[in-house]
Amino acid sequence: MDSRIEVGPGRNGMQKLQLIRDDRNTAEIYLNGAHVTSWRSAGEEILFLSEQSRFADGKSIRGGIPLVFPQFGSGNLPQHGFARTSLWEIASTRVVDSGEVEVVLALNDSDATREVWNHAFSAEFVVSLTDRLRTELRVTNSDTEAFEFTAALHTYFALSDIGAAHIAGLKGSKYLDSLKEGQKFKESGERVIFEGEVDRIYLSTPDEVSVVDEVSGRCIRIQKSGFPDAVVWNPWVDKARRMQDFGDEEFQGMVCVEAGAVASPVRLEPGRTWHGTQTLTADHGSANLSDAS
Ligand code: BG6
Repeated sequence: MDSRIEVGPGRNGMQKLQLIRDDRNTAEIYLNGAHVTSWRSAGEEILFLSEQSRFADGKSIRGGIPLVFPQFGSGNLPQHGFARTSLWEIASTRVVDSGEVEVVLALNDSDATREVWNHAFSAEFVVSLTDRLRTELRVTNSDTEAFEFTAALHTYFALSDIGAAHIAGLKGSKYLDSLKEGQKFKESGERVIFEGEVDRIYLSTPDEVSVVDEVSGRCIRIQKSGFPDAVVWNPWVDKARRMQDFGDEEFQGMVCVEAGAVASPVRLEPGRTWHGTQTLTADHGSANLSDAS
């Protein structure tokens, strides 16, 4: 296996890393935001990336896996925090003979982060590619006092058609509906389906849920640990129109399922490290059987 990592210019000359396990299994990560913009499994792109996405320093990329930290949603900080708009550094890279390709990216507090969030921290984001894509966010409190944060791996999955797709594994979970002033409901269906805008924080969810594309038969298994919650989001027609970095029709080809610690903040004592992981596995389904080796 000719596994390797390549570092070089990506869109608009921005630095990106390519994790190459083999020709058909690759991932791409921009240092701006430590942002995974592509994961190809058995030759198929699994993540959605908007055609309208900005690729500019200090701007978030629309699609892939934006890193939400230290604030989910709106609040005192910019929406979804500063991790997704900060320039991360490469801390280490590793290529193992068995075909595991891994990079660790790092972000520490700086004048810019302390201005909006006055805490000393170091964060690491580990992206590890095998036949799966494993991502891990680690946060260490290097301050003298405890701090609190919320975080999520805001993963955008590519779909053939949102109207013929569902999320499995959430039956029985309670959720806060962001479109109904955060009121709490209980998921009663085996499948979460999409017939309009959906923006929900599912609370303390099972550590495995699936995104099922009924057109292609593809099923993506999302396994998480350390992240209690799962945000499910599709902007549908009106919100898609309001978003400048997202095509009007693109809501039809994506869904976000976000492993997160969002409903209750994580409290981290000085010297302690918190970590949350998300592992994605693609089952390519019958539509791709001849191609799936
Ligand atoms: C989701 C939120 O996590 O992110 C939505 O639940 C929000 O309310 C979406 O619209 C996208 O946020 P942003 O900041 O990337 O436009």
